[in-house]
Amino acid sequence: MRKDKAFAVILAAAMLSACGQQETSSEAAVVTVTALPAETTVTETAAGTSSAETETAPSETQTAAQTTTTRKPDETTATTTVTDHEANLIDYFEVTLPETVIPDTEVEELLPTSHSFTQINGMTYIDDILIVNKTYSVPASYDPQGLLPEAQNAFNEMQSAASMEGIMLYIVSGYRSYAEQEGLYNNYYYYNGAETDRFSARPGHSEHQTGLAMDVNNASRYFAGTPEAQWIEKHCAEYGFIVRYPYGKEEVTGFMYEPWHIRYVGKDLAKLLTDHRLTLEEYFCIDSEYSASEEVSQAEESNTDNAYTENSDNYTYNDTYTDETWW
Ligand code: DAL
Ligand code: ZN
Repeated sequence: MRKDKAFAVILAAAMLSACGQQETSSEAAVVTVTALPAETTVTETAAGTSSAETETAPSETQTAAQTTTTRKPDETTATTTVTDHEANLIDYFEVTLPETVIPDTEVEELLPTSHSFTQINGMTYIDDILIVNKTYSVPASYDPQGLLPEAQNAFNEMQSAASMEGIMLYIVSGYRSYAEQEGLYNNYYYYNGAETDRFSARPGHSEHQTGLAMDVNNASRYFAGTPEAQWIEKHCAEYGFIVRYPYGKEEVTGFMYEPWHIRYVGKDLAKLLTDHRLTLEEYFCIDSEYSASEEVSQAEESNTDNAYTENSDNYTYNDTYTDETWW
């Protein structure tokens, strides 16, 4: 087994054992969970009991609920394997992975023992970080109308620093509205069918709608391994960004390797995650999976809009790995 593949296995096992199961603390008014289902609000009472209710639509009024998550290391040794797909990506992108930064046995001790979940108007924040993935969405009505100033300013600073080293960085896709993402996803679906879910988020599930994420330079496989991609990988955390869908983490993030997609999380968290090759999902112990009802409804909608069929001449498996641009 190659060294890089071996590390992926070891770290995945370490992280799986670090994420605890749902439990209720004996201390009053503390609910401990590892992840909340999307659209669920947990309310707490003074007596320390809790109840959960499902919302069908985000409330117009400002509502917030807070819970605390607690890591509970267990004795179980979790095992996982590098999938054939991940192995193919190593060869496909000709990626040289960073060396292990710290021994996996020390990872758990560095991580926080609890996290705070807050849900406000259909948006989920964990430790004040807005979370958007296949599990957690933002409402269609959420529209910051552009990159948020903190993300734009951090990019500008990074762009200037990179240019001093002869690296030219530019944004090719920043903020995208719900409607733009919907059009993009449906177009990809027309050509790629279900494979689309590996590289394009469904509307409401794209970080681009948050105004905190951006694609730089070349959102295609040709970006991997370029001096610009290497510079981003090495330095973006210094400006508060993470490569959100790192190599080898598709089963965790839900999306394949996207060296061009960076997400602003602030310098401290960016450095911690990057140093230890952790994703937001691993750090916060959360999933990234569409709900069963979303699986059905989106497939029906996309099929209706685009008349896609598995036998379409437009699609073969290999087409997804040629020169597509995967925003
Ligand atoms: N390409 C990323 C996953 C997005 O569509 O937001
Ligand atoms: Zn992107």
